[in-house]
Amino acid sequence: DWTMAEFRKAKIDEIREQVGDGRVICGLSGGVDSAVAAVLIHEAIGDQLTCVFVDHGLMRMGEAEQVVSLFRGAYQIPLVHVDASTLFLKGLEGVTDPEKKRKFIGKTFIDVFEDEAKKIGGAEFLAQGTLYPDVIESVSFTGGPSVTIKSHHNVGGLPERMDMKLVEPLRELFKDEVRELGRELGLPEIFVGRHPFPGPGLAIRIPGEVSREKADILRKADAIYLEEIRSAGLYDAIWQAFAVLLPVKTVGVMGDGRTYDNVCALRAVTSTDGMTADIYPFDAAFLSRVATRIINEVKGINRVVYDYTSKPPGTIEWE
Ligand code: XMP
Repeated sequence: DWTMAEFRKAKIDEIREQVGDGRVICGLSGGVDSAVAAVLIHEAIGDQLTCVFVDHGLMRMGEAEQVVSLFRGAYQIPLVHVDASTLFLKGLEGVTDPEKKRKFIGKTFIDVFEDEAKKIGGAEFLAQGTLYPDVIESVSFTGGPSVTIKSHHNVGGLPERMDMKLVEPLRELFKDEVRELGRELGLPEIFVGRHPFPGPGLAIRIPGEVSREKADILRKADAIYLEEIRSAGLYDAIWQAFAVLLPVKTVGVMGDGRTYDNVCALRAVTSTDGMTADIYPFDAAFLSRVATRIINEVKGINRVVYDYTSKPPGTIEWE
């Protein structure tokens, strides 16, 4: 695409001009925005860029591996991969309040990132995948200006604590343009077209207390659901689809035996900006196929329900 090719060239010049021979650190979230920013900056200044990927152990199936192999393998971008899952999961023990979960994860993320930044000798610049909707104040995913419905956590929470100059090459772009730029930069389609994923990860899809065991169960159910959505050709028609693991046990029967296991809820919505959303109207055959597979293949789940709530009054995530 001519426009994106031009944008890419112009931004590369701009980044070189801004950074000179300085060092840049970029926090990767696993999402599209930070990945596109990092690849673009790497094209401009090469190994003056170091990426830091703080893995909280609450990513989707295969996601952390995908980020690491994309950066170290395909692009050969220096990447520090911090497995901080024990730190996060220990700290989440006993925490059930959604806001406390979010605040703990956001703060811990910044702590770990700062430590890693120090270890690699610091840098003058912090790179971020800030988009235009993040820049204009009127747009906020969850609430109006005076009501905090959810404390958002993303890599964008960093600058308040870090004394670094910002490099934000995506500030003029909307989400669909970032995806286009990602394609222009050769990022794989499976990465570029991926549904949004919240900074706090699976922690906010496990109401009640989070544990590694619960995260493992949820990851499996979620992967089956998304696999079925992809093979039905529905992935791109949906803004976001995911499974939620409920802290509710119900009785079931399997073979000759009684089961007593957790409920899994499935969510899928259409949306243009995440501000409002409608449920995706799957047909019954699709939902029963997914339910059957999850119950048969995932130990720990014996019942599956579908979430029929639009936004508003519901939010997209459950916490
Ligand atoms: P809600 O649940 O508020 O979500 O309707 C709207 C959109 O925002 C995503 N979301 C987040 N994204 N950090 C993020 O980067 C967060 O803390 C966060 N919380 C929610 C959510 O997945 C949906 O796309």
